[in-house]
Amino acid sequence: METNNRSAGGALTLAGKYYTDEHIFLTEWERIFLQNWLCVGRADQIKEPGQYFLQQVGDENVILLRDYAGDAQAFYNVCRHRGTRICAQSSGQLSQSIQCPYHAWTYALNGRLLGAPNMQSVAGFDKADYPLHAVGVAEWEGFLFINLAVNRRPFHTVYAPLLDKFTRWQIPELKIVHTAVYEVAANWKSIFQNYSECYHCPTLHPALNTLTPYQGASNDLEAGPFLGGPMRLARIGASMTMDGYACAPPLGTLAGEDLALVYYYTLFPTMFLSLHPDYVLTHRLEPLAVDRTRVICDWLFAPDAIAQPNFNPQPAIDFWHMTNSQDWFVCELTQQGVKSRAYVPGPYADLESMIAAFDTEYLRVLGM
Ligand code: FES
Ligand SMILES: [Fe+2]
Repeated sequence: METNNRSAGGALTLAGKYYTDEHIFLTEWERIFLQNWLCVGRADQIKEPGQYFLQQVGDENVILLRDYAGDAQAFYNVCRHRGTRICAQSSGQLSQSIQCPYHAWTYALNGRLLGAPNMQSVAGFDKADYPLHAVGVAEWEGFLFINLAVNRRPFHTVYAPLLDKFTRWQIPELKIVHTAVYEVAANWKSIFQNYSECYHCPTLHPALNTLTPYQGASNDLEAGPFLGGPMRLARIGASMTMDGYACAPPLGTLAGEDLALVYYYTLFPTMFLSLHPDYVLTHRLEPLAVDRTRVICDWLFAPDAIAQPNFNPQPAIDFWHMTNSQDWFVCELTQQGVKSRAYVPGPYADLESMIAAFDTEYLRVLGM
């Protein structure tokens, strides 16, 4: 399983402008975040018809809801009359429709305009011409994804390499037991790059490095938008927790080799998926500025484990909160350093081959 014949191919780190230039950050919004599928939460946040939540995506605000056919829908939170934001509360329960608070234009949960008071006298006005502007939405492994591109590639095409890769963890049934939200004073790519290597683990994460010695990392996805692979636990029955022991029974149908591995993947451009034997951890990135990123971290466990009277996820929560904090510390230091006129790209170690692969994919998608 371990293939330590990785190579960064002599690649160098990115130039400083990619971490500091406002123009490049705006270009990233146009070409990356507004063009790709972005994970925005869990499908069970909108389980019942009419349940909704709002998601900010850069300057855009999106309504995610469940319609009466049971499908997830996503719309720009923009009225077709005078552009007013329709929903103001961050989440809630709609009745059969969505009504704009300004002049009461009323939309069905599939976005169709149902009512527009006093508009019948307006020559040529046809309600059929004014549905809410739809946003692409997809559900996979119990996660909700949206895509704001007009000509978007179908989710199942983009995610083809991953579609059935994680079935043995039975992720759709998992429940979030804890969420942590961080604001990191670093560019979003630094956070990707930090997650993509364990070269830093012996120095920065002594506890983590004891549980999963850094030489035990390998990769089964080595190019393109999805990168990563398994890392060997020091022993069976271990997990990434404060005491080093799994804090719940194995997920899904995991058995054998999987019980001694943690799988780490980056899903371009905003998600990390960490699959432990006993729980799943996700990181979602929201780039706020060229030097500021919100990171939302969710800990997911199986309902059976949660129902146990002695269920205690705290060792897993504390472990990753500690590790996250250590990582944000160096990401923020890196942001400070790469601003310097003394910074020039440095050489990647072969242990950083996944960063070199990330940079390649990033520059390809950015097109500059
Ligand atoms: S702006 Fe929404 S009904 Fe007028
Ligand atoms: Fe780290």
